Amino acid sequence: METMTRGKLITFEGIDGCGKSTQMRLLERYLAERGFTVVPTREPGGTVLGKKIRSALLDGGEGSVEPLAELLLYAADRAHHVRRVIMPALNEGKVVLSDRFYDATTVYQGYARGFDLTLVNQLNELATGGLKPDLTLLFDLDVETGLKRTLKRGAGTGAEAAQPDRLDQEPMTFHEQVRAAYLEIAAREPQRFRVIPAAGSVEETFELVIKEIQNLLN
Ligand code: TMP
Repeated sequence: METMTRGKLITFEGIDGCGKSTQMRLLERYLAERGFTVVPTREPGGTVLGKKIRSALLDGGEGSVEPLAELLLYAADRAHHVRRVIMPALNEGKVVLSDRFYDATTVYQGYARGFDLTLVNQLNELATGGLKPDLTLLFDLDVETGLKRTLKRGAGTGAEAAQPDRLDQEPMTFHEQVRAAYLEIAAREPQRFRVIPAAGSVEETFELVIKEIQNLLN
């Protein structure tokens, strides 16, 4: 039997330091205050297994991960996450907010690391079971500002700032490629993507987010 009300899946994408996680927290609160049941989640790391995969990929203890292993680990994280967290929540009519989803694999592993895009699309399809976001917010920001924000993150708390993760240490050209690829895939699916300029203040950016989600949730 078909579910009566399927929830909505909104994904948050962009280069490191674009502010998507902050915007997602604000949107979570905004929607909860308006009576929506919201499930905030992330990739990698949206499940117990996913947290282990995230730490294996990003803590950098072993040095670099083989690119093929990396591609498959993101897919494994996603396969588990979609089936254990996202689909059940959507079937209960909830609004799922995900900090990254398969577009990140297209961009980072496909465009930036150079894996064949047909293969990447097939893996994405397999991992998601064909699930697509209802809306994808792409926070667009120049790479330099993004990196500065990443380095400032957690400053004074001794938290993330002192230890930029492995991907934060990639050269600028890598991040430039990622930014350009995100813009390219967004242009190809304008009905799903909204590009949000993210160089302004948190409040300014959030106003743009609110505008974009109005239609979806009415
Ligand atoms: P985050 O810091 O936004 O949580 O993302 C963690 C890193 O993982 C980020 O640098 C992008 C990378 N990543 C990929 O390379 N491929 C993927 O499929 C996902 C979900 C993340």
